[in-house]
Amino acid sequence: MNDIPELNLPHVRIAHPEHVSEVIQNMIKDGHDKLQVVADFDRTLSKYTHRGQICSTCHNVLEEGHVLPDFYKDEARALRDHYFPIETNPKLTVEEKIPVMVEWWTKAHDLLTKCHIKRDDVRKMVENSTARLRDGCTWFFDQLQASEIPLLIFSAGIGDVIIEVIKHQATLHDNMKVVSNYLEYDEQGQMTGFQGDMIHVYNKNEGAIHDSDYFQNLEHRNNIILMGDSLGDLHMADGAVGVQNKLKIGFLNVKVAESLDLYMKRYDIVILEDETLDVVNAILQKVL
Ligand code: TMP
Repeated sequence: MNDIPELNLPHVRIAHPEHVSEVIQNMIKDGHDKLQVVADFDRTLSKYTHRGQICSTCHNVLEEGHVLPDFYKDEARALRDHYFPIETNPKLTVEEKIPVMVEWWTKAHDLLTKCHIKRDDVRKMVENSTARLRDGCTWFFDQLQASEIPLLIFSAGIGDVIIEVIKHQATLHDNMKVVSNYLEYDEQGQMTGFQGDMIHVYNKNEGAIHDSDYFQNLEHRNNIILMGDSLGDLHMADGAVGVQNKLKIGFLNVKVAESLDLYMKRYDIVILEDETLDVVNAILQKVL
């Protein structure tokens, strides 16, 4: 751990330093050929705040600018004001939160479907949005690409928005796969709904990726860096096979004091109110 000074910074919390040290040593020994990375998007690869302002999540991007009508913005904000405190309430269990999150995503997706947006609208909204990739994200993406390390971005946000944010602010490389909620369009390019099963923050252990052959094809990559900002993100790599070393890195952005104990129990490394990927990049640099 002394080789990676970023791990000793005051906003980086580690409940079991010996365990973290052993996992990182194993990953360094095994090298980049054995590594795969699984990351959440909103508030994990993207920032929570930028220069003191709260940044947009994928869904929030749609509330910015002038593309969508005011009724959408008002209702989407009202939904978030009601449901986001429930999502992040450390006093509720995941089981208690799941039906409430299904309700939120269902209402939010129905609301967006009513607006009949056009394919090109997403690009315009992203260009003018306050969604921001974390500082260091471009380096992170580029290094993973250069070393041919697969990156799975697993998000309960909106896939079309994620793709545009990455293309606009960094590069979407061919080692990256984005599994998320994608918009469905008719032949005229007008949105008609969402494709496939809904992904919300607490069902990342279910079918979306685990029923596919994604992890099967990577079974020789026994080491996983998992990055998330919610307790639901801990399940993003549940379908991975033959895992020998897993390093779970959690970004804690809100309700820090109330949630810290829980996050330290569940994540190996907890990073508090940081808008960079410096800690992850420092570890990655050692493994490459
Ligand atoms: P993530 O899986 O990439 O973290 O994305 C989920 C986040 O999206 C979660 O923190 C809640 C947020 N969200 C909104 O901001 N507005 C919405 O309408 C919905 C459904 C989710």
